[in-house]
Amino acid sequence: MSAAKRLSRPVAPGSTIGILGGGQLGRMLALAAARLGLKAHVYCDEDDAPAFDVCHAHTFARYDDERSLAHFAGACEAITFEFENVPAQAASFVAERAPLNPGAGALALTQDRLAEKNFLVSLGLQTPAFTAVSSPEEARAAFGAIGAPAVLKTRRFGYDGKGQAKIASADGVMAAWTVFEDAPSILEAFVDFEFEASIIAARGQDGDFVAYDPPQNVHENHVLRRSRVPSPLSAAQVAQAKTIARRVADGLDYAGVLTVELFVTKDGALLVNEIAPRVHNSGHWTIDACLVSQFEQHIRAIAGWPLGSPERHADAVMENIIGEEAADWHKLAESCGALHLYGKKVRRTGRKMGHITRLGPKTAAR
Ligand SMILES: Nc1ncnc2c1ncn2[C@@H]1O[C@H](COP(=O)(O)OP(=O)(O)O)[C@@H](O)[C@H]1O
Ligand SMILES: [Mg+2]
Repeated sequence: MSAAKRLSRPVAPGSTIGILGGGQLGRMLALAAARLGLKAHVYCDEDDAPAFDVCHAHTFARYDDERSLAHFAGACEAITFEFENVPAQAASFVAERAPLNPGAGALALTQDRLAEKNFLVSLGLQTPAFTAVSSPEEARAAFGAIGAPAVLKTRRFGYDGKGQAKIASADGVMAAWTVFEDAPSILEAFVDFEFEASIIAARGQDGDFVAYDPPQNVHENHVLRRSRVPSPLSAAQVAQAKTIARRVADGLDYAGVLTVELFVTKDGALLVNEIAPRVHNSGHWTIDACLVSQFEQHIRAIAGWPLGSPERHADAVMENIIGEEAADWHKLAESCGALHLYGKKVRRTGRKMGHITRLGPKTAAR
């Protein structure tokens, strides 16, 4: 395999950047690219992808279609992805043809919860207690060691709570093991957290680093309900969260936006839940409340541009519009908020259809 391409100079306005994945994150990345005078070429294996509506060019093809991938990579000056389950093979294939950021290494690491957690531990960061499990016997033994309640999570392909089950008993762990069809997993201690937060940060190709004020996040049925800034985190905790993000980004020699999801414990510790190698739902408020949004920041980073200011000019509450709630679009449009709808035709339970961000005067510096 030949080496991954590196960006030799910033991608100039008028050029094309490629996005693997066509969901709402890809859509908002393409919109941010357009504002900077860059064109977006979106590659997705679904033909009604939300990002297809707003891009300069699109390819509807499978992720193992090397002809289409080669054509796509040949049309782009720089490439990124908008979801972390992009097949590793497709990522390395395009990375040999055009600079891919974040790189295939960061992608591979975050696709595997066990590798990710081991990496976090190697950086000296705190996580919930966890054990790798690859057989029913190991699952039972791990539950004995970790105790109730625990969470069984498949190592791969989880999102929005899919591929995870809360475990209250040894029988429960065996039942979940069967439902997950023997998928290699980790068993994790369930954290009785005070609240959840996340830190969204960007690292440029020159190692420059910026971080947004961390939001407090509330999940319902494992799906993000709302994010709020400022969060209840103290100034010291905010500084600690930024240090965590920097260590992760430096450790991965990362370029682009990354998100670190945190559990804030009742005694004030920050435990890392997971890393998302991308822009994040808990950062959507940055579009309306910051000088430079997470989406523009990511485009800047992957295009080799200087990073922008992450400064927040307002307090913000971002609320997801989920499933049937989107039927009320007219009412939402009347309400006083910045409405973002993703153009998805089918409303399904739990599906993210849009979000609305409400702003208020800035009340805290963090
Ligand atoms: N160990 C845990 N303790 C308490 N809650 C958890 C734990 N792991 C996950 N959760 C809850 O489930 C949500 C989704 O889990 P996460 O591991 O982030 O998976 P994903 O976002 O990939 O679905 C978390 O944001 C949190 O609300
Ligand atoms: Mg998560």
